Amino acid sequence: MNPIILVHGGAWDIPDDLVESHLKGVTEAITRGKKALPHSALDAVEDAITCLEDDPTFDAGTGSFLNRDGMVELDAVITEGNSLRAGAVGAVKRIKNPIRAARIVMEHCDTVFLTGEGAERFAAHQGVPLCDNRDLVIEREIKRWEGLARQNKPAEDFFKHGTVGAVAVDKEGTLVAGTSTGGTPCKQPGRIGDSPILGAGTYATDTCAVSCTGWGEAIMKAGMAKTIADFVDRGLKAQEAVKKSVEILRDRFSGYGGAIVVTREGDYGSAYNTPRMARAVYAESMKKPEASI
Ligand code: GLY
Repeated sequence: MNPIILVHGGAWDIPDDLVESHLKGVTEAITRGKKALPHSALDAVEDAITCLEDDPTFDAGTGSFLNRDGMVELDAVITEGNSLRAGAVGAVKRIKNPIRAARIVMEHCDTVFLTGEGAERFAAHQGVPLCDNRDLVIEREIKRWEGLARQNKPAEDFFKHGTVGAVAVDKEGTLVAGTSTGGTPCKQPGRIGDSPILGAGTYATDTCAVSCTGWGEAIMKAGMAKTIADFVDRGLKAQEAVKKSVEILRDRFSGYGGAIVVTREGDYGSAYNTPRMARAVYAESMKKPEASI
């Protein structure tokens, strides 16, 4: 087995002045994730996503878009394809690293998906410290939120950074996918996007692991992550599978975004139908991680 990890930091119209911070962010995340990679794809994905959640460059964890009430509201999932285990949290407001909470749900809860106050209570009971929502809010997002209310433009026009995710295969061939997001700018409170929904924004089987990014409503309708996995199972190369799904997202669902995929054999790919997608890859056969946007 050739262990591999891929991360993404969102597929959107990332402006020129944010290119450097995005490349730095995905490089740091993959550097963090690869430390655990040879032995544990699960730790690698969790660590990489935690790093992205802590970086306000991205729409996940601290610095996420604000909802209509001016609050951060977060969704995250982690899933291990070989064992078909999964855990997710949705619409949580007091968890700094929802990907860690998602893993706790996967490992300690008898259900797969917890939302809101119930998810927070479960995480706290398992030892996750709860934060104040204001700890997750940054000045840049308050300004964006005020602009959105004032200018009466579609929320898409304010989408300049995005959801984060990671996929990995370790030396045992264990496949893991995870995704974390603050959702869309000025979203309806309580709205949950594609990211934490298995088969929509995230999916893993014993043949591949997938994480998507983009406008969640279209990605959910497309069942995009499952579509990519099905294409891989039907024999498509990883790059063909992800490219075809991104085309379907645009042509059939009028959606935009992107995705990353890795297979058990170590084949991998990424594609997007937006101007840019921040991403990085590291395989044991490489000297160092490669980031691109
Ligand atoms: N893809 C992230 C979201 O729409 O919530």
